[in-house]
Amino acid sequence: MDIVKAGTYEEMSELAAELVEAELRERPQAVLGLATGSTPEGMYAALARDCESGKVSFAEASSYNLDEYCGIPASSPDSYHAFMEEHLFSKVNFQPGATHLPDGNGGEAACESYEKSIEQAGWVDLQVLGIGNNGHIGFNEPSDHFPVATHLVKLKQETIDANSRLFEDASLVPREAITMGIGTIMKARRILILANGDAKAEIVKRAFFGEVTPEVPASVLQLHRDVTVMLDARAAALIP
Ligand code: PGA
Repeated sequence: MDIVKAGTYEEMSELAAELVEAELRERPQAVLGLATGSTPEGMYAALARDCESGKVSFAEASSYNLDEYCGIPASSPDSYHAFMEEHLFSKVNFQPGATHLPDGNGGEAACESYEKSIEQAGWVDLQVLGIGNNGHIGFNEPSDHFPVATHLVKLKQETIDANSRLFEDASLVPREAITMGIGTIMKARRILILANGDAKAEIVKRAFFGEVTPEVPASVLQLHRDVTVMLDARAAALIP
C-alpha cells in the first residue's frame, strides 16, 4: 500500500489526475473503474482540462462505474449516469459506447450482465475509489462478509443521510443500489483510493491501519497488491 499525503484538496486532485493520465499513457486502451461522489470531482475537472489541452486522451479507453441507484431513471439528474455525464463524459473524448454504468432498474439480471461485461473487458486496469464515512467502497456497506460480485444492496441509514445533501429532499434518496462487489473491485490490476476532509480522517485510520474486516469494507484493500491511498492533509490527520 502506497500512502500519498497531499496538502490541499486541489493538490490531491492534481496528483490523482496525474496517476490516471500516466496509466492512460502507458496503456491507452485501459479499462478504467470510475467512482461518483464529491471526492473525485476535482480529479475529473483536472482530467477534463488536460484532455481539452491534448495532454491526455480517452479515445481508446473504456470505463465501468462502481454503482448506480435503483428506483430512479438513468435520465434523472440525481442518477450516477447524470453525474458522470456532467463531470467527465461530456468533457473528454471517450468513444460512444465506451463508458458503462450498471442499470439501476435491471434487477438481478443487470447484476449478472454487468459483472460479465467487466469480465469480458478483461477486468479493470485502474480502479478509482472514494470511501464512505462508514468505510464503504462503491455501495458495499459494512456487513458480516465481503460480497464477491456485482449485486443489489440496501443502503445503510448513514449513507442515505450522507447522500441526502445532493437531493432536494432527504425522502427522495433511493434506498437501494446496484454495486460492483468487493471481489469485482479486488480484481482490478491497480487501485487508487481518494479521501479528503476532516470527516474522513477517522475512517481512513480504521480502514488502512486497523483490522481487515467486512465491518469496514475498505479495509480489504490492505490485501491488494497495488493500492495507492491518496489523501489531503485533513483526511491524513490521524494516521501514523
Ligand atoms: P463522497 O462519497 O466522495 O461524496 O464523500 C464517498 C463515498 O461515499 O464513497
